[in-house]
Amino acid sequence: MGFYSNAIIPFFYDYSMDSKKINEGRKSILSRIAEEEILEIGFGTGINLKFYPQNVKRIIGIDANKGMLQQAQKKINNGRIEIELLEQSSESLPFPDNSLIAVASTYTLCSIKNINSALKEIHRVLKPGGKYYFLEHGLADNPKTQKWQHRLNPLQNIWADGCNLNRDMKMLITTAGLKIIDLKNYYIKRDPKIVGYMYEGIAIK
Ligand SMILES: C[S@@+](CC[C@H](N)C(=O)[O-])C[C@H]1O[C@@H](n2cnc3c(N)ncnc32)[C@H](O)[C@@H]1O
Repeated sequence: MGFYSNAIIPFFYDYSMDSKKINEGRKSILSRIAEEEILEIGFGTGINLKFYPQNVKRIIGIDANKGMLQQAQKKINNGRIEIELLEQSSESLPFPDNSLIAVASTYTLCSIKNINSALKEIHRVLKPGGKYYFLEHGLADNPKTQKWQHRLNPLQNIWADGCNLNRDMKMLITTAGLKIIDLKNYYIKRDPKIVGYMYEGIAIK
């Protein structure tokens, strides 16, 4: 991983992704977590920490980028939540089958290179009945926007460190064997449509 990914991107994300309009979605999905323990994949710089509800007592945060976790570490203040950070790709999770009760991700599925493996891993480690909470941007609902998403994807991939604009999150999540029990699709107000089409919901194993 180069200097741009490791050093520049973490600062840029920590600033740009902690905005009011993005945080509305974070609050909305994370406030629904009913479990005490959760694995967050693509933990990033830890922006979600301030939105976890009171019932959450332990978080395992996984990210493939050490620079992201270094930024996240600064937000950990030995408060009410026990937090363990692991530098690890979510394409291969270091947990036994059927061992976790809940997994979460926000703005992460767009960036994982082998997205099918990562989602299969989430399915594998969840206990039957375990929940996957997600807030992800992806393929829009109209052909005109989709066309631009496909066109601009190679550029987005370069400047946004592997981010894809055109992933159909509903299809990918269900293909991995997870059953979506709740899904809200919407555009983030005043965001360009190519990056602002959201998939917010819960899937169950
Ligand atoms: C756009 S950032 C979002 C960070 C955070 N989830 C948030 O909502 O602010 C995408 C994150 O996914 C991480 N990521 C990309 N590929 C990954 C992989 N294979 N395994 C784990 N994390 C990965 C990146 O390092 C980055 O921190």
